[in-house]
Amino acid sequence: MAPTACLPAEICTTIKHIPDKNDYNLNWDHGQFSYHGEDDQPQSRLAAKELILDVLKKRASEVDVDACAPGAEDAFYVADMGEIYRQHLRWKLNLSRVRPFYAVKCNPDPEILRLMAKLGNGFDCASKAEIDLALETGIDPSRIIYAQPCKTKSYLRYAAKMGVKQMTFDNADELYKIKSCYPDAELYLRILTDDSSSMCQFSMKFGASMDVARHLLEVAYQLELKVVGVSFHVGSGAEDPKAFLKAVQDARLVFDQAAEVGHELHTLDVGGGFSQDTFEKFAGVLSDALEVYFPPNIRVIAEPGRYYVASAFTLAANVIARRDVRDPENPTQDAYMLYLNDGVYGNFSNIIFDHQHPVAQVLTCDPDVNPPNAATSEGIAYSIWGPTCDGIDVISKRINLPALLNVGDWLYFEDMGAYTKCSATRFNGFSDNHEVIYISSEAGASALLEY
Ligand SMILES: Cc1ncc(COP(=O)(O)O)c(C=O)c1O
Repeated sequence: MAPTACLPAEICTTIKHIPDKNDYNLNWDHGQFSYHGEDDQPQSRLAAKELILDVLKKRASEVDVDACAPGAEDAFYVADMGEIYRQHLRWKLNLSRVRPFYAVKCNPDPEILRLMAKLGNGFDCASKAEIDLALETGIDPSRIIYAQPCKTKSYLRYAAKMGVKQMTFDNADELYKIKSCYPDAELYLRILTDDSSSMCQFSMKFGASMDVARHLLEVAYQLELKVVGVSFHVGSGAEDPKAFLKAVQDARLVFDQAAEVGHELHTLDVGGGFSQDTFEKFAGVLSDALEVYFPPNIRVIAEPGRYYVASAFTLAANVIARRDVRDPENPTQDAYMLYLNDGVYGNFSNIIFDHQHPVAQVLTCDPDVNPPNAATSEGIAYSIWGPTCDGIDVISKRINLPALLNVGDWLYFEDMGAYTKCSATRFNGFSDNHEVIYISSEAGASALLEY
């Protein structure tokens, strides 16, 4: 089913609250940041979670697995655009100098791109299709960076045709290719970073080492190509904020080398690698480094993906089968096997490609089989599997849930917005195109998106 922008009328009241500095307990001395309120989350986020649960339950209640059409019980998302808006405000609060170019690869959902465009953000694109998606929002091509250091030639010609000038490179062969396809391009030299503490590492594949940076700048100069900046990426899901400090220091050296060679650099691109949980710590280290090494006349951009969208999408999946597996020899290992209609070949591709561990929560369960004492205080043990015939298709090897679940019940999974549906496949004939119900828990996002 194609994604639909829909909002059940009775749930469409937006939460009229925009976070400001008073919502946060900032402790810069220790580089820490915490929220006030229950569960250490801002009130706006807690209220948003309730709203999301209401929408999930309402949509799930419309499905009768005993009578519905094939696929009517398919997994579906609820996307809270208000959460993306809150993340944007948080970015502005902590990294006001750095302009975000949203990494389209992370989640190319058209509603996300529409909101990014309205927020004034740019786009980091890695292919012709991503460039098209970004341009379809109506933005000027100058708001796109083609941030793929090893580009397809025909895509380069396409970038030239569409006026997408900004692009990265990290090797001499790429410079010759750019010279032949798009000599007017504005180039960013992508340098290597130490991404050893990051969940997803890129440095084995991309980035020029500091040893070769000057040589590449000289080749570009001889080819009369215009190098305008330096870019780096500290790795996605980065854990060490000092990686930003080192990368900024290296970028400074390359700026100086470029000036000696004869280039006039004006922009630093600090890439992605920001996460919801560690954002303020990373932003603090990055801001301080920028202040020390880059004067205000240098423009600074970034390519955040995960940071913006991970927490905005919640996925609901249906229990299509259950196996009661008991081991009389070892009853402590008893666990039901639950089979969902989505798995690692689908929206849970983040388990394979993005090292994630999505956590199941009960959305609905049959009250008739769940009297108050159906589960022990520890809950009931399950393993959770996807719908394909492959044994690798496992979502949780063991999890305790507070209810006895059966066919037709629903589970939901939070934080499913980053690197999920974009890398889903159609293996075994299952869909890679699930319904998305868009809601907004922030008045600011509602005003921009008109729902
Ligand atoms: C060049 C580039 N920029 C930005 C990103 C987005 O990274 P993140 O989602 O960690 O912000 C990626 C992720 O693969 C990338 O390769």
